[in-house]
Amino acid sequence: MRKYVFVAIALSLPSLAIADALTDAVKTRQEHMKTYGKNIGMLAKMAKGELDYDADAAQAAADTIVEYSTKDQSGYWLPGTSSEDMPGVSYALPALWTDGAKAGEIAKEFVANAAALQAVAGAGQGEMAKALGAAGKNCNDCHKSFQAKKD
Ligand code: HEC
Repeated sequence: MRKYVFVAIALSLPSLAIADALTDAVKTRQEHMKTYGKNIGMLAKMAKGELDYDADAAQAAADTIVEYSTKDQSGYWLPGTSSEDMPGVSYALPALWTDGAKAGEIAKEFVANAAALQAVAGAGQGEMAKALGAAGKNCNDCHKSFQAKKD
């Protein structure tokens, strides 16, 4: 009897550590996305005139978006962390892993559009707004295909 208890503990320890690592990976990528959201949100307000356009602030936001878009994200889009694997924690649809090529295409386009945004973010409200539209479309395209709805 005792022996089985030990075996159970020995088996559950590494799997707990793995579960923690997977949860951390999901939290980290959600923080990454929130950083996009915060910065895109501010630029969108400036584009719509809800917030006064400020060249320095717009440039800083675009710089941050580019910094994040070019980060190595392989450590947190781990297999086993889809919305089906971790309901209520992850909102990344399984399609992200089964159709990774499509996600990769959108991500590649986004990196290019984020760089284009960075190039003009400080050059005036109109130019920033135009470039923001292209990058923002990539956010939406990816979410439409790969983000589960929160209910
Ligand atoms: C290549 C695909 C892809 C791109 C590009 C992308 N996202 Fe996401 N985003 C996702 C996925 C998948 C999730 C769900 C992640 C999870 O819950 O594990 C997500 C989640 C989010 C969230 C919710 C985070 C949370 O609190 O749980 C926000 C906000 C967000 N994205 C904003 C953005 C913005 C803004 C952009 C563009 C600047 C963007 N995303 C670009 C795929 C993408």
